[in-house]
Amino acid sequence: MSQFLPDYILAWLPDTIQIIYLIATAFFIRGLKLLNSPNTARKGNMLAAIGMLIGVVVTLFDQHIVSFEFIIAGIVVGSLIGTIAAKKVAMTAMPEMVAIFNGFGGGASALVAWGELARTPDVAMFDSAALVTLGLSIFIGSLTFTGSFIAFGKLKGFISGNAITFPGLNFINIGSMIGVLVLVGMFTIDPANDTFFWIILGVSLLIGITSVIPIGGADMPVVISLLNSYSGLAASMAGFALNNNLLIVSGALVGAAGLILTNIMCKAMNRSLANVIFGSFGGDDGAGGSAGAGGDRTVRETSAEDLAIQIAYASKVVIVPGYGLAVAQAQHVVKEVASKLEAKGVQVKYGVHPVAGRMPGHMNVLLAEADVPYDLLYDMDQINPEFGTTDVVLIIGANDVVNPIAKTDPGSPIYGMPILNVDEAKRTVVFKRSLNVGYAGIDNPLFYAEKNQMFFGDAKKSLQALNEALNSV
Ligand code: TAP
Repeated sequence: MSQFLPDYILAWLPDTIQIIYLIATAFFIRGLKLLNSPNTARKGNMLAAIGMLIGVVVTLFDQHIVSFEFIIAGIVVGSLIGTIAAKKVAMTAMPEMVAIFNGFGGGASALVAWGELARTPDVAMFDSAALVTLGLSIFIGSLTFTGSFIAFGKLKGFISGNAITFPGLNFINIGSMIGVLVLVGMFTIDPANDTFFWIILGVSLLIGITSVIPIGGADMPVVISLLNSYSGLAASMAGFALNNNLLIVSGALVGAAGLILTNIMCKAMNRSLANVIFGSFGGDDGAGGSAGAGGDRTVRETSAEDLAIQIAYASKVVIVPGYGLAVAQAQHVVKEVASKLEAKGVQVKYGVHPVAGRMPGHMNVLLAEADVPYDLLYDMDQINPEFGTTDVVLIIGANDVVNPIAKTDPGSPIYGMPILNVDEAKRTVVFKRSLNVGYAGIDNPLFYAEKNQMFFGDAKKSLQALNEALNSV
């Protein structure tokens, strides 16, 4: 586009582009900051998107751009696909969509690096630093691309969610990664030799597959968050090679944010990242436990009518949502029940565990969809001191996040994971279809506790019956 501009504008164009890149960066940083709270997250997302639009439009004026028509076509097609995908995706399928977007992010960074190499007539024009970053961008971007698509396949069920592995695979993966880093070094020394480039590309694509395939399906959200961080790193590397400040900063932000999120998820599950990557935990069939291991212990069941009476005459009820709430899509009816209780003078709060569900903020997003006011959502540290004064806790499709074994059994895979202390309340009621295990694959003694009652069935149907029964109390 710059060919249409007069010379005096062209003279100050490079500096102006850098200043506008800086403004776009400010939009990204402010956007990220606003993502901190559900109240401001929408605005944050919008600001970051505006920052991205500014970045793309300004790049049109960059003198390195050969054809702006392609960029405009890219914006139109990309925006169309993005809008349709975001509007159509079911809340439970969000991790799959993020996996695909991550994969494309990584692939795009690898392509940018590849394109930069391809369009430069003499590779000797690159200095060593540029060659190292180009090589790393192709390495990280390609493994992010294939790894994200394997994660997508596992979540979608196209590929078995079980850990597909064999002895020594982890060593092969680590060895291959070291091998690629050595090749990046060799490529830097002898960039004219195409063979290094092709081996880096091919092996990196393979590493993405072989390093995600051995990880259990239920750990995919953590893997996706890590791959998201990789895609940012790849973009940042490409930015160094292209001398593009916006790419460097935005890539670094994505890299850091993804790493922080991965760390938060691992901490909340009380597992190390190494355990997630090499532990083969949480496949289709659950890990380390027997499904529905009820033994000869008895459970007490309740019905919609009995429960309606209990909660209608309670003074304080806490609702604990879990993965089953998302599966049953029971968020709207849960809100209806809560509103009826509030109308009867019952104090209602929601206790949200940081890793309830299958993705960060899963429960917050679901409850927001049903317009549950944010000020009724309490995180774990806020709600735990309140269970002692709670009459009834309604546990809707949650299992691991309320399992007291995390506090008592050092042999349990979730030992040490902070949980919601629902067992301190006067009564707990668990809404689920059976006594089956949750994600961690372990039995839950809460189900057999004297103070607990089970409300068996699909959470949505059970809540609809409860909602109905509340009309006659
Ligand atoms: P889970 O422990 O996975 O338990 C969910 C329960 O929901 C299951 O036991 C299941 O029992 C029930 N359920 C499924 N469909 C249902 C339906 N239609 N109606 C009623 N109940 C239904 O869930 P949680 O307590 O939310 O814990 C989350 C787990 O995922 C944690 O272990 C966490 O570490 C892990 N994890 C979380 C994340 C993030 S970031 N949130 C990421 C990776 C892993 P039935 O089959 O008997 O109905």
